[in-house]
Amino acid sequence: METPKSLQELTKMLHEIFKEDSINVEEVTELMESYKSNPQDWKKYAIFDKHRYTRNLVDEGNGKFNLIILCWGEGHGSSIHDHSDSHCFMKMLQGELKETQYHWPTGEGGEMTEKSHKILENNSVAYINDSIGLHRVENVSHTEGSISLHLYSPPFQTCQVFDERTGHKTVAKMTFWSKNGERTPFQCAATKENN
Ligand SMILES: [Fe+2]
Repeated sequence: METPKSLQELTKMLHEIFKEDSINVEEVTELMESYKSNPQDWKKYAIFDKHRYTRNLVDEGNGKFNLIILCWGEGHGSSIHDHSDSHCFMKMLQGELKETQYHWPTGEGGEMTEKSHKILENNSVAYINDSIGLHRVENVSHTEGSISLHLYSPPFQTCQVFDERTGHKTVAKMTFWSKNGERTPFQCAATKENN
């Protein structure tokens, strides 16, 4: 397979791959890894907020996938969450993130158990789905922001978030801080953002 020379080329190649009904996780991982992050390609999508991480829509993948850039300020992190039966690929564009995977809770009332954790370095790609488990993603740096590119297929609008201490779950709605580099109009309803 050819190496994408820009995020735009990568997006085009992903459109081709996702025309097929079934997808090959290794193929997508390798393709996303082969793109060498260049800020010129994605800086217009990288809109930070000082209070929490942001989700910025890059491409709607012909309805087959969503491509989203997440911007993580220092110390920002997600809740523990699932991926609504979708594939989740996460590629580092700048800085590092810590991914902690958890087992699904067996019931409510007990502390959730960690399965593994790792540091994702620049340009690397991580993959998770609900059969692998749940995860939390954090920028543990006190000095640097982090930026990651996420691909979800099929796209989803809600996911479940979990309380680490009790395993109690609630539904969270996915929202976008910007679409195509344009800040999304302010919404009154308070929403939790995840994934
Ligand atoms: Fe996630």
